[in-house]
Amino acid sequence: MENKFKRTLITTALPYANGPVHIGHLAGVYVPADIYARYKRLRGEEVLLIGGSDEHGVPITIKAKNEGVTPQDIVDRYHSIIKKSFEDLGISFDVYSRTTSSTHRETASDFFRKLYDKGEFIEKTSMQLYDEEAGQFLADRYVTGTCPHCGAEGAYGDQCEKCGTSLNATDLINPRSAITGNVPVLRETKHWYLPLDKWEPELRRWILEEHKEWKPNVYGQCKSWLDMGLQPRAVSRDLDWGIPVPVEGADGKVLYVWFDAPIGYISNTRELLPDSWEKWWKDPETRMIHFIGKDNIVFHCIVFPAMLKAEGSYNLPDNVPANEFLNLEDDKISTSRNWAVWLHEYLQELPGKQDVLRYVLTANAPETKDNNFTWKDFQARNNSELVAILGNFVNRAMVLCHKYFEGRVPEAGEWQEIDLTTMQDADKAIERMADNIEHFHFREALKDAMDIARAGNKYLADTEPWKLIKTDEARVRTIINLALQLCANLAIAFEPFTPFMATELRRQLHLGDPSWDQLGNWHILPAGAEIDKPSLLFEKIEDEVVEAQVKKLQDAKKANELKAWEPEKVADTIDFETFEKLDVRVGTVLECSKVKKADKLLQFRIDDGMGGRTIVSGIAKYYQPEDLIGKQVCFVANFAPRKLKGVESQGMILSAVNADGSLTVIGPTGPVTPGARVG
Ligand code: 2FM
Ligand code: ZN
Repeated sequence: MENKFKRTLITTALPYANGPVHIGHLAGVYVPADIYARYKRLRGEEVLLIGGSDEHGVPITIKAKNEGVTPQDIVDRYHSIIKKSFEDLGISFDVYSRTTSSTHRETASDFFRKLYDKGEFIEKTSMQLYDEEAGQFLADRYVTGTCPHCGAEGAYGDQCEKCGTSLNATDLINPRSAITGNVPVLRETKHWYLPLDKWEPELRRWILEEHKEWKPNVYGQCKSWLDMGLQPRAVSRDLDWGIPVPVEGADGKVLYVWFDAPIGYISNTRELLPDSWEKWWKDPETRMIHFIGKDNIVFHCIVFPAMLKAEGSYNLPDNVPANEFLNLEDDKISTSRNWAVWLHEYLQELPGKQDVLRYVLTANAPETKDNNFTWKDFQARNNSELVAILGNFVNRAMVLCHKYFEGRVPEAGEWQEIDLTTMQDADKAIERMADNIEHFHFREALKDAMDIARAGNKYLADTEPWKLIKTDEARVRTIINLALQLCANLAIAFEPFTPFMATELRRQLHLGDPSWDQLGNWHILPAGAEIDKPSLLFEKIEDEVVEAQVKKLQDAKKANELKAWEPEKVADTIDFETFEKLDVRVGTVLECSKVKKADKLLQFRIDDGMGGRTIVSGIAKYYQPEDLIGKQVCFVANFAPRKLKGVESQGMILSAVNADGSLTVIGPTGPVTPGARVG
């Protein structure tokens, strides 16, 4: 099937420029797309990898409003962070542009205009939610309410994040404006709709009959959408941030972000290749692949194809290998809760470890189901796979070459059975790997690549050249030759997955720039060729490094809990007489010690101005005894005495309960005579 195409256009979901990208985005979209693109280039195929930032949409305007800056400020900030972090991770985009570019504005406007002129839209006036105080319509995320499907609170006007259902703002129960908190009113407004129902029969045939090979998660989601029946979908909004609707009488209306964003793929191709972009979009010999996450399936498999069909001159995607979601330490990644590993921070905090992240995210890619990233697994995969299998094999082969043959590739003699078996094992792994990449099974493909290194380790362990060198140097020449050929093969096989390591290994082996066809060539390094002394390809990651990352996440969780904290409700009103019953005094701590066999309790001797008293208090978790000696505290003096762990407590020391549940003892702000009453 592949060879009916001359070239491949690979698109990657345009991330919203309202925040940096995190490992969930990477595992779902950018790492697999980059593996695929690098693989295709290595095979000498014509390929483009298209990316860019999605800079319209309501979340961006809300963020701008909250920060008191313009939406353009927000997208400028995040576009540059995202673009740089992708570059630093080695995502090999041919173009990474943005939907606020002039090329995009023109491309998206022209696209709309063409559909408009062809009569492909329905113009409809309907009642929409309107915030009278803010003086604006409440599109998409500008309104929240109860989800009509699952009953979750806080569902957005375009989607319920709890059950994933896509919604119209007017579907929400008890809607509220996200701008003022007001209950919105209904007001009439005109919009343009793309009649998806018109395209339903063609989409049904195209997906359900002609693309049975699509991943089951993608095919299944499309089928359920199609089975529910498609409805006309509004492609404009009443907003002031976006691309103006390019027709008469559309003041104050912009293109819906999900209308303009996928056109961004076209604009960015145009920006890169102003004279030849059309062959990438319109020539039937171009194969288009959309890399996306599962939340984008309907837009890429139904809405965008319907737009392309309505336009009439474009290709449809050949495949949409959408991934499921990646969780982090067993919890859903969440931008608002800061439960994420942010790419730009990772690159700063773990410099030089781009390949480790790429490797771990591929090994754990959520290809068929949601998957989990943990720092423990990250460390284990680095230490016991990249270091212990791949790095170790390459290092051993190169060290032995330097030890016995002065760093020159020794000449191989006749191959023996074990040599041939090793080559066959590697050949099989290479074949499987190519097949797996072609079918978007990147996790398996990575295992196949690793199998080459495994075969190499087994080969050295079985042939034991370090023992043979004493008796059969000629045989050792053959063994080291083959081991080095395996290293060279690894340098090619790993280029799509861990390109930094692959480049470094090619440099150390003086390998030049071999293509994929050289895989399985067991003479790729000529006898007599020089190789460098090896420098380690991967380093062990120590416990402290991952512990610091786990701590960072825990801190984020704590900070988030504190943000969500609300003070306790005020107790029922009391009169002065009742208040007077409470006798609170100031005292000075004379002694303080831990209570035996009670890890929560501290025992105090207090100067209360009346001869002194003993008080036991449950604050040992928050104070060391010596912290409090000499300090003044407030205590309830007329609290009925009670025994705690055998000690009689004659009062209660007052403390405040903080948001995280910790206690802080309350005392006067300046010196007070012991025994003075508080009131
Ligand atoms: O879900 C998202 O993050 C969207 N910004 C993806 C857009 S993909 C494409 F259509 F541009
Ligand atoms: Zn819901």
